[in-house]
Amino acid sequence: MGREKIFITRRIPEAGVEKLRTHFDVEVSPFDRNLTRDEILRMTAGAQGMVSMVTDAIDRDLLDGLVDIRIIANYAVGFNNIEIDYARERGIVVTNTPGVLTEATADVAMALILCVARRVVEGDKLVRRGEFKGFYPTFFLGAELKNKVLGIYGLGRIGRAVAKKAVCFGLKIIYHDVEPITEGSLDFPTQYASFDDLLKKSDFLSIHALLNEETHHRFTLKEFGAMKKGAFLINAARGPIVKEDDLVYALKNRWIAGAGLDVYEFEPKIHPELIDMENVVLLPHIGSATIEVRERMSVMVADNLIAFFQGKTPPNTVN
Ligand code: GLV
Ligand code: GLV
Repeated sequence: MGREKIFITRRIPEAGVEKLRTHFDVEVSPFDRNLTRDEILRMTAGAQGMVSMVTDAIDRDLLDGLVDIRIIANYAVGFNNIEIDYARERGIVVTNTPGVLTEATADVAMALILCVARRVVEGDKLVRRGEFKGFYPTFFLGAELKNKVLGIYGLGRIGRAVAKKAVCFGLKIIYHDVEPITEGSLDFPTQYASFDDLLKKSDFLSIHALLNEETHHRFTLKEFGAMKKGAFLINAARGPIVKEDDLVYALKNRWIAGAGLDVYEFEPKIHPELIDMENVVLLPHIGSATIEVRERMSVMVADNLIAFFQGKTPPNTVN
């Protein structure tokens, strides 16, 4: 019996690729860019497993064309880029990479909170423009974190990690999730809030939910209108949870004070008006982008593929 073939849609750190090579024939896309749908179809022909990126839109149409593929190991914790239910129907297993990127992503959310509160990026730009004229008492004032309310939308692994870090900065944590989490299972002080209360009470509102039908456009004009005028919105989860046009409107009209974003509704496109706003910090989707994490993610996709072809249930199956 020949070895199974695995196709990887974009270069990933070697650790996982090496591990895969000890079990399979591995082919990595020769292009350092996102593949088109046709390229994915062509290059996966004859492969039984594939490693996909969040940027690969694996919808019904494409799944129908992946005739030999039995498992898709997504190189991400989020898997909204894959129609997982339809994949299941077609007998294709989908896995993700949870856990290994929790702290790194929480760090980026915390960085965004600090940057918007203390105007870090804006200050850096001012200095580089040569406009720093020396200290004075009323210059460049920001917001203190201590005793402010951090509202977390989605208290999963990442939301909890953000909460724990934020507690050290003196933030008071409230959260909203589909339902309250059993008291005692959380090792930091927090209170459940209704979605309305989360909007009303948060000085910083940080999104850590999965993108799905329920969370798509969860934040629109209505929600921004209910938030505090001095509040900041933080999103290091998925862009389409926020209706970006509405966020721009709310920011322009000073309904909220600012935003820190690592993800965008139409990535990699960014609403042009966001680019010109001083009270907005924009990062290029780098939540999990550390050397250590990206390497662990590559080993994790390898472990899922290996388990699958050994006839076991892959540890990180999502469908
Ligand atoms: C990246 O966005 C991920 O979901 O891992
Ligand atoms: C993702 O890792 C989450 O559960 O927050």
